[in-house]
Amino acid sequence: MSLLKRIESARPVGDTRLPSPVPPAPVAPAPLPPSAVSPFPSPAPVAVGRLTQAPARESFRDTKFRIQNRVIQELDPKLDISDQVEVRREIEEIFSRAIEEEGLALTRAERVRMLEQITDEIIGLGPLEPLLRDDAITEVMVNGPRQVYIERGGKLELSNTVFQNDDHVMRIIDRIIAPIGRRVDESSPMVDARLTDGSRVNAIIPPLSLVGPVITIRKFSASPFTVPDLIRFGTATPEMFDFLKACVEARLNIFVSGGTGSGKTTTLNVLSSFVPADERIVTVEDAAELQLRQEHVVTLESRPANIEGKGAIPIRELVRNSLRMRPDRIIVGECRSGEALDMLQAMNTGHDGSMSTGHANSPRDMLSRLETMVLMAGVDLPLRAIREQIASAVDLIVQQSRLKDGSRRITHITEVQGMEGDVIVMQDVFIYEQTGVIDGKIQGRLKPTGIRPKFVEKFEQMGITIPPGLFGYGF
Ligand SMILES: Nc1ncnc2c1ncn2[C@@H]1O[C@H](COP(=O)(O)OP(=O)(O)OP(=O)(O)O)[C@@H](O)[C@H]1O
Ligand SMILES: [Mg+2]
Repeated sequence: MSLLKRIESARPVGDTRLPSPVPPAPVAPAPLPPSAVSPFPSPAPVAVGRLTQAPARESFRDTKFRIQNRVIQELDPKLDISDQVEVRREIEEIFSRAIEEEGLALTRAERVRMLEQITDEIIGLGPLEPLLRDDAITEVMVNGPRQVYIERGGKLELSNTVFQNDDHVMRIIDRIIAPIGRRVDESSPMVDARLTDGSRVNAIIPPLSLVGPVITIRKFSASPFTVPDLIRFGTATPEMFDFLKACVEARLNIFVSGGTGSGKTTTLNVLSSFVPADERIVTVEDAAELQLRQEHVVTLESRPANIEGKGAIPIRELVRNSLRMRPDRIIVGECRSGEALDMLQAMNTGHDGSMSTGHANSPRDMLSRLETMVLMAGVDLPLRAIREQIASAVDLIVQQSRLKDGSRRITHITEVQGMEGDVIVMQDVFIYEQTGVIDGKIQGRLKPTGIRPKFVEKFEQMGITIPPGLFGYGF
């Protein structure tokens, strides 16, 4: 078919314009049909420049917007958007036709890039898509339209991704949260959601955010880090993981403590992998992040309130419910509030070997955080009683930190020994010692403090052996 014919056949019925060898003068794109009519989520508004008589002068970006608009207008509104393959095929077809008809001189690479960006804009998450596809990127932080940071190899860096304007970012947020039936607007300007691949998303918009709409994405790794990965990253040595494995097998109650993004969940996942396969595990989380490999695992996920503010099922209720599910181990993704009390009670009432994480900067801080969390449960317990609960429930605190070089390390392995007067007694068994810095990378390792933990007796009773000398003395 000649180019002329193709142009003709591409025209909507009733279009009687004569084909012109010069591309037609640009028209601002007709407003997109409301999403109720179109199956395609409305893409970012397109800053259509005047269609250039001399395409060479038009920037890649402007050309892309123009072609993108054309693709949107020509896409069949009745197309089934769940059929991604078909939608992609159609986009590619219209795209190729547009490029050809307009005689655009694009290199092969430009063509591929433009098609990819247009497809991402129409059916994906626009400028975020390439960042989400890149496995080396672990977090994406959009601080308004002009500033997108990423985390790669534990380090933050400014990416060259930009959005067109606030509206563009808002549209992407809407697209992220549409499947969970949430909305974000001035009356509810914060939302938590998840991408289809399980990545965690938080969005917060003006007027609460003063820099424009902000999106934070913690990417979900389909294959979570395992012990060999963490050894490779220098999180801890093989001996330390052997020791932690023994602790899990000996059914110690463990809290992984650390700051935001310090790797608590990852370490909890690794510790959970040490639970013997013949035990029944119930996991409770806000957003299911743990990925246990055992067969006998029941995963529970809390539920936020709906738009009317009703129907929330908090972690705490799930922890209580899990006690009625005959668990051998209860694993709570993170204790933030009153659920800590139920968790401690579970640990004290026969569900030993349970584990959780908490936000704290040191093992001692973890204990005081737990006190505060128990108070948040709203029960009227004297402080001493709370401390007794904590001291008898928690056996071990594994402190995780993110060091200045971006690496995540275990910095303390601390035993909670009991009460002395009104104070909880704890004893570091291993402490991280920095030995130097090579090529910007912090060097060091966990060193035994020389103290023999009390729970070693438990190991002996259960026939679990640990290498002599592990604690810094021979025995
Ligand atoms: N030991 C590690 N070494 C290197 N990177 C790690 C390690 N542990 C976790 N990470 C990476 O750090 C990021 C945060 O990990 P994780 O979710 O485990 O942290 P967290 O402390 O649970 O975070 P939050 O406070 O948000 O719950 C992830 O992108 C993960 O891939
Ligand atoms: Mg976490």
